[in-house]
Amino acid sequence: MLNIAVFVSGKGSNLRAIHDAIVQGTLDARICLVLGSRPDAPALDWAASEGIPTGVISHRSDDTDSAILGLLEEHGADSIALAGYLKLVPPAVVRAFQHRMLNIHPALLPAFGGSGMYGRHVHEAVLAAGVKVSGATVHVVDEEYDRGPIVMQECVPVLEDDTASTLASRVLEVEHRLFPRALQLFAENRVNIENGKAIIQ
Ligand code: GAR
Repeated sequence: MLNIAVFVSGKGSNLRAIHDAIVQGTLDARICLVLGSRPDAPALDWAASEGIPTGVISHRSDDTDSAILGLLEEHGADSIALAGYLKLVPPAVVRAFQHRMLNIHPALLPAFGGSGMYGRHVHEAVLAAGVKVSGATVHVVDEEYDRGPIVMQECVPVLEDDTASTLASRVLEVEHRLFPRALQLFAENRVNIENGKAIIQ
């Protein structure tokens, strides 16, 4: 069973999808901690209402990495899910959780990722580029935004009359399915990282 710390910055619909999968028995895990990058993230209120321990990470202080690592240890986290977390995770935390930290991104990486590519900005860039498919990606996190071995991807069509918000909802539906499935692969120890690629057994 995974002991997952979920990092959030916003609404937390992916956090709820992870929680639902656990309740339904399709994800062998428990959420031991929800950490927010801002105290007003609605995801934190939801987690608190479910009795899940929460915390807020200030990226302004000098000891951000030791504060995060301390909380993760205190709550027994063995893996991290970045569920709409919009800050760069400090390198010391990435190193401590090497190959045990996953991120969900609302596009088909390596396209439409990187610094500044989050939420609605991603879908606006997809529409501006005129591509015909988009989708969601779950990947293992390294020191850069939206980079690291890809574990799962799923496509959605981009429609002629899409707006950033209609495309975002189509992608989000996929995200809610994909993230718990990718986490379950880790719970079953079925992901090996070889030569910078995720190999699924
Ligand atoms: C999701 O679409 C997630 O993929 C995206 O933020 C949204 C969070 O929604 N993450 C990124 O763009 C990271 N680069 P949620 O708070 O409802 O889960």
